[in-house]
Amino acid sequence: MYRTHTCGELRLNNAGQKVTLAGWVQKIRKMGGMSFIDLRDRYGITQLVVDESASHDLNATAEKLGREYVIQATGVVAERTSKNSKIPTGDIEIKLSEINLLNASQTPPFTIEDETDGGEEIRAKYRYLDLRRGPLKKALELRHKMAQETRKYLDGIGFIEVETPVLIKSTPEGARDFVVPSRMNPGEFYALPQSPQTFKQLLMVAGYDKYFQIVRCFRDEDLRADRQPEFTQIDCEMSFVEREDVLNTFEGTIKALFKNVLGLEMNEQFPRISYADAMKYYGSDKPDIRFGMKIAEIKHLTGGKDFAVFDSAEYVGAICVEGAASYTRKQIDEITEWVKRPQVGAKGLVYIRLAEDGIKSSVDKFYSPEDLTAIANVVGAKNGDLILILAGDKKRTQDAMGTLRIEMGNRLGLRKSDHYAPLWVYDFPLLEWDEETQRFYAMHHPFTSPKPEDMDKFYSSNKEDIAQVCANAYDFVLNGTEIGGGSIRIHDSGVQKRMFEVLGFGSEEAEYKFGFIINAFKFGAPPHGGIAFGFDRFCALFGGQETIRDYIAFPKNNAGRDVMLDAPSVIDAAQMDELFLKSTVSK
Ligand code: AMO
Repeated sequence: MYRTHTCGELRLNNAGQKVTLAGWVQKIRKMGGMSFIDLRDRYGITQLVVDESASHDLNATAEKLGREYVIQATGVVAERTSKNSKIPTGDIEIKLSEINLLNASQTPPFTIEDETDGGEEIRAKYRYLDLRRGPLKKALELRHKMAQETRKYLDGIGFIEVETPVLIKSTPEGARDFVVPSRMNPGEFYALPQSPQTFKQLLMVAGYDKYFQIVRCFRDEDLRADRQPEFTQIDCEMSFVEREDVLNTFEGTIKALFKNVLGLEMNEQFPRISYADAMKYYGSDKPDIRFGMKIAEIKHLTGGKDFAVFDSAEYVGAICVEGAASYTRKQIDEITEWVKRPQVGAKGLVYIRLAEDGIKSSVDKFYSPEDLTAIANVVGAKNGDLILILAGDKKRTQDAMGTLRIEMGNRLGLRKSDHYAPLWVYDFPLLEWDEETQRFYAMHHPFTSPKPEDMDKFYSSNKEDIAQVCANAYDFVLNGTEIGGGSIRIHDSGVQKRMFEVLGFGSEEAEYKFGFIINAFKFGAPPHGGIAFGFDRFCALFGGQETIRDYIAFPKNNAGRDVMLDAPSVIDAAQMDELFLKSTVSK
């Protein structure tokens, strides 16, 4: 037996017991003739002591130890004279009688403690060492718990977990596919699934009316803090449901996760908001509602005062920043520069300050105190507040207002990571028109159903009508992050065909790419709908982080590389030949 206990287990009531532990040497300190060793395993850290009275052999072995050596250590549990209240085993230490060196270690390239001196690149290269550190261990434990609780809950309400293939034909989720050449079918390629969308719908046709899967998805898209090329979804689908059934089922699932993973009871129903209202009040389709600061449209209050910027603007929007009237000129100038950055895209910023000495603004030349007070009333500003205003074309200015609102929320410390504000956003547009390619794209994916009341418009030959069709689609948003997205699906082969037509696929192309699903719908497809949650994002938010990388055991970097494996990499000529491939890049 390698060990009798783990390094996180022993307490004062074990004093006097003879125990054996096994683990990694985190630190060694020498004081006088004594050596103190911090021994670490997955469960914690225990202090080991080799004191002056120890045998020559024991002292000699202790002398040889270095950081990250793997040892087995036997001794008696004793109360510590100087206790460490920071760790659960801090009241005791083990007075050693034996050390068995199990393996030596090179000096690690960075300190393996909760706070480390290692940069991102070096830690990625030695990911297995980084994973020994407390914060990463906690992240993976949280992920494990989330997966177990998800399975337990969904199993409990009759869902069945079904695995779907990874070598498939392209699924149109809007990103590029990763492809895999087929040796047995020269010149042909599999695509890796961007999601199991079509398979879960086929499972509904097959009669498995409550399906889920914790599943790996692959998307070749530009990476950000909350995006990885391979990521995991909790993918779900149900038959004989309407939107409310899906939202209620998964609101239950989410609440169970909050309760069982974080110990948070959420008794209230999650707020629900339409896409149109989300854009109007928050300038975002994924509003962070941990704080108010709603956007007000004030165009009707600004006209006819000879201020050309507002007069020529399609849209004028304002937010009230509570308590910010004390911002200095310099601070406001800095925010003005900030909104002009390309990522925000505003041309300038107008402010109104409601200070002790009256209402003042950057446009006093055009607006009287009464005009400004009328604006203040509409945005709900009171003495001590600052109003920030942007103007321009509607879509872009609403987006910029949304970005500014989040920035002010950050600056005012209103976005606390341990405060959770979930909500559902529904009624998204079905399609987006792309000027460049002169065609419609599905805003969610091509299997999403138009709302029944918009069916006439969906079949209209007029582009403007089609652009207005609303989708029976919804997102789950947590703290300003889109965690999940889903929809009620098309289950009629005729409607599905029309969808491909609207998307500009010729009937032959639609048949070639999606014939299998159009056909399946001819064999008794039930009404169905579902949702998929970004599991990595869910875990990161539960852990209080926005970056998902630490919640994935072996992630890729921002260039899509696995730095540890040094992948992707070139393959040799023989392998290329076998796959009937030729590269146009020489490496
Ligand atoms: P969607 O494309 O909205 O829907 O994806 C669902 C959720 O997956 C997460 N996600 C990602 N997470 C990390 N890295 C990525 N690159 C990434 N891309 C997406 C997001 C997102 O909300 N088949 C549909 C679902 C359905 O209709 O049922 C789908 O995949 O959190």
